[in-house]
Amino acid sequence: MSVPQHIAIIMDGNGRWAKKRGLPRNAGHTAGAKNVEKICLAAKKLGVKYLTLYAFSTENWSRPENEVKALMKLLAGYLDKCVQTAHENQMHIRVIGDINRLDAKFQKQIVEAERISAVYDDLNLTIAINYGSRDEMLRAMRAVGRDVKEGRLAPEELTEELFDSYLDTRELPDPDLLIRTSGELRLSNYLLWQLAYSEFYFTDVPWPDFDEEELKKAIDTYENRDRRYGGIKEE
Ligand code: IPE
Ligand code: IPE
Ligand code: MG
Repeated sequence: MSVPQHIAIIMDGNGRWAKKRGLPRNAGHTAGAKNVEKICLAAKKLGVKYLTLYAFSTENWSRPENEVKALMKLLAGYLDKCVQTAHENQMHIRVIGDINRLDAKFQKQIVEAERISAVYDDLNLTIAINYGSRDEMLRAMRAVGRDVKEGRLAPEELTEELFDSYLDTRELPDPDLLIRTSGELRLSNYLLWQLAYSEFYFTDVPWPDFDEEELKKAIDTYENRDRRYGGIKEE
């Protein structure tokens, strides 16, 4: 099988990475944020077209205020960095999730990053911020409901493809491969609809240590999988 076109990553384990080194959790987040650019470059080099990173979930607001603050600051920082490198890397940046809950300045920065980079298509980097799959689907269902109520859509016209177009990921193909770092074996409300037929790869390596070699390992494993989509194996 060839290189996955779209890789989605749950970037987990920053806190444990820091704890192991006797550092505060936020030091782990700083190291994790630094790793984002490296993995973008590695993915592009390996021929990946879409990279979708889980940076902050709708559930992550329940963390201590100082950690949430630090995470938001780091996110704004690396979004800025991504914009700077978008031109040289021909990178299209998108954000998924409900950005209305983010502070006004950050929202503006996101809209601007998406606008500036929209001309590029070499690597499509999508960052999930205040993202939760259930929240995304509810927002989509509300929009479907409004369109039905206002006569733009008949319920029987709703297909999988049309529902896709109501999701935050409407411009992205479904992920071929999901990677979760740091050992947890769960989805934590990430892309539940979109991952219906994706291959899963879990590694114990925490996100700050997940480098190009580790990404290659995940891709190698994927290449040896036998995807079926409900059919039987073609000989
Ligand atoms: C991932 O690392 C970053 C976010 C979820 C924002 P964690 O902060 O979840 O690290 P662990 O899981 O506590 O080690
Ligand atoms: C998932 O990681 C969210 C992100 C990586 C942004 P968490 O660390 O928040 O997930 P749980 O709480 O362990 O399921
Ligand atoms: Mg975690």
